[in-house]
Amino acid sequence: MNDLIIEAKGLYKTYRGAEKAAVDRIDLTVEKGSFFGLLGPNGAGKTTTLAMLTGLLEPDDGLLKVAGFDIRTSLDEVKRRIGLVPQEISLYPSLTAQENLAYFGMMQGLSGNALNGRIGDCLEFARLTELADKRVETFSGGMKRRLSLAIGIIHEPLILFLDEPTVGIDPASRLFIFENLKAMNANGTTIVYTSHYMEEVQTLCDTAAIMDSGRVIANGRMSALLSRQGKGMIRIRTAPDPTEAVRLDVESLPGAQSAIIKNDLLEIQTQEPEAAIEGVLRLLREKNVKLLSISHGAADLEGLFLSLTGTHLRD
Ligand SMILES: Nc1ncnc2c1ncn2[C@@H]1O[C@H](COP(=O)(O)OP(=O)(O)OP(=O)(O)O)[C@@H](O)[C@H]1O
Ligand SMILES: [Mg+2]
Repeated sequence: MNDLIIEAKGLYKTYRGAEKAAVDRIDLTVEKGSFFGLLGPNGAGKTTTLAMLTGLLEPDDGLLKVAGFDIRTSLDEVKRRIGLVPQEISLYPSLTAQENLAYFGMMQGLSGNALNGRIGDCLEFARLTELADKRVETFSGGMKRRLSLAIGIIHEPLILFLDEPTVGIDPASRLFIFENLKAMNANGTTIVYTSHYMEEVQTLCDTAAIMDSGRVIANGRMSALLSRQGKGMIRIRTAPDPTEAVRLDVESLPGAQSAIIKNDLLEIQTQEPEAAIEGVLRLLREKNVKLLSISHGAADLEGLFLSLTGTHLRD
């Protein structure tokens, strides 16, 4: 096994006045050099987890080592080695791109030629060199995201944390961010990427944890997570609409792992699509239920989330 660059055990946080924990005793490990995805719906606890992993928020309980240091006793050592691209972009709008980079670079302890060199590199990296002297308030959402990313890496961190970095940006900026993150990861930077877009996590990340209601409900290598989901999902539409009785019958068919009713659709997780389809067709005939449509989708994280929680990641 590779070295672990993040080790969290029993991480716990309840916000003051809140009824339930935002992060409810989760265990997480991230291997050095991996591209780690933290996936979950709104309110799952991703940002709270990231805030604890980056030392912005003190856990109420649990053990946490980041980059080899205990975050409680060696916060400065940790902070020097990590970068964060937050969910809420925090730039100084009346300063230029260059001035923002200079400010955050100084906050990270850079100065003189080293700082100037990094500002130049980061502007180039974010393709903002031409716009270096423009005030940030004139920037588009995508440009701000790119600058926010550049600030996150100004001190060349070992681990880069990104909190939903592609929300509200145009497709070109999104692609640009993906390509850059992949290149950085190939060069050895460990990346921790949170998102509620399962496609992003599925295509970018080699390992992932799925959160729901403050808990980690699945985690591991992407290939292992996807194989847990089986060989995908069969979706059928019937007349009349599927009933709970039909759902239960379908669920007990050979080849069917689980079945849920979603509006007028019946979604069936399966390890053996052929057997499941055959069984479903026979069952519907027996029950005099008319089949209106049937489709088979490949295994994906959305399907895994659905089979674990009975709900969709997003509607
Ligand atoms: N500052 C806060 N004070 C009180 N409750 C909070 C605070 N921040 C978050 N919460 C609550 O904690 C839970 C986890 O929130 P968190 O922001 O970590 O989730 P998230 O997965 O990042 O969601 P999103 O996808 O919306 O960004 C939610 O129930 C949220 O309402
Ligand atoms: Mg969040």
